[in-house]
Amino acid sequence: MLSFQQYLDKVNGAIAALKYPERPALLYAPIAYTMDLGGKRIRPVLTLMACEALGGNANDTLDAAVGLEMFHNFTLLHDDVMDRADMRRGKPTVHCRWNDNVAILSGDTMLTLATQLVARSGRMELIELFNRTAIEIYEGQQHDMDFESRDDVTIDEYMEMIRLKTSVLLGCACKMGALVASAREDDAETLYQMGVDLGLAFQLQDDWLDVWGDPKTFGKEIGGDIANNKKTFLLINALNRAEGENANELKRWLSTGDERRDDKVRAVTAIYERLGLKELARKEIEQYSDRALQALAHVQIGTAAREAFTTLINRLTRRDR
Ligand code: IPE
Ligand code: IPE
Ligand code: MG
Ligand code: MG
Ligand code: MG
Repeated sequence: MLSFQQYLDKVNGAIAALKYPERPALLYAPIAYTMDLGGKRIRPVLTLMACEALGGNANDTLDAAVGLEMFHNFTLLHDDVMDRADMRRGKPTVHCRWNDNVAILSGDTMLTLATQLVARSGRMELIELFNRTAIEIYEGQQHDMDFESRDDVTIDEYMEMIRLKTSVLLGCACKMGALVASAREDDAETLYQMGVDLGLAFQLQDDWLDVWGDPKTFGKEIGGDIANNKKTFLLINALNRAEGENANELKRWLSTGDERRDDKVRAVTAIYERLGLKELARKEIEQYSDRALQALAHVQIGTAAREAFTTLINRLTRRDR
């Protein structure tokens, strides 16, 4: 079992070795731009770690792992159009640096490149898992958009939405590694569940950072979720708990347009803080990271692998970027 950094080096090496055609420049330059910007690369690293934890060789799953990272980056290009987000990884998003059409078509290309990379494994079970996961993510993304204009979204609906848009991809990353290692079915399933629980904690933390993160380290503009009326764990709880003046103020801000974005972000953040949601969300994140650790306890792997996953879960759910 290697360290996180060593698996990351393998992933980064494989991504750096990808070659894109020169032309059309407006199709391929945004792909190289996005893939070269890095990011945490947690999905491909999870695949390599899962594979070796269950007795496989990480090199056998490198193409599929890179495919998942390519797919993840494709979702970001489209997500940033949908969320009207200007910054990612500390740089202008593709639709801002170029335009929406470029983000759509370069994204489409990345989706196909990702499918090709996963298909190189020659294993139908990987391709089926990948395709099923991709459709779940699109479903989650549509729920996320639908929820912007609703104010009666429940916490259960939110958890299902983030399971779909974010968590299943982490579960898929873990399970792919297990499948390539020809692991026992129950171990592959438990590792999938660990990835899903980690993903729930991961998205809750992303929502937390969208309010209280430092844009310099987070790499995204703070307050995008508030500006877009995203039904996050924070906003749903605020709507459920606010009374009197807090409730009236929150309702007013929800119907305020983009021209008062900064005031809205400041005011809604203050409401969250008055309602104790910063701490409540932290507890919720801990709960799902504990669930991921409990799932991990049921997978039959060696001590080094168990420690590597434990460290990763703890780091990701307390991350600042
Ligand atoms: C961003 O994913 C989208 C979410 C699911 C929250 P990451 O936080 O993994 O983004 P990068 O790849 O590290 O930039
Ligand atoms: C993104 O959720 C999930 C997917 C891209 C599928 P967010 O919209 O919260 O991700 P960020 O914050 O833009 O990275
Ligand atoms: Mg989004
Ligand atoms: Mg977004
Ligand atoms: Mg976010």
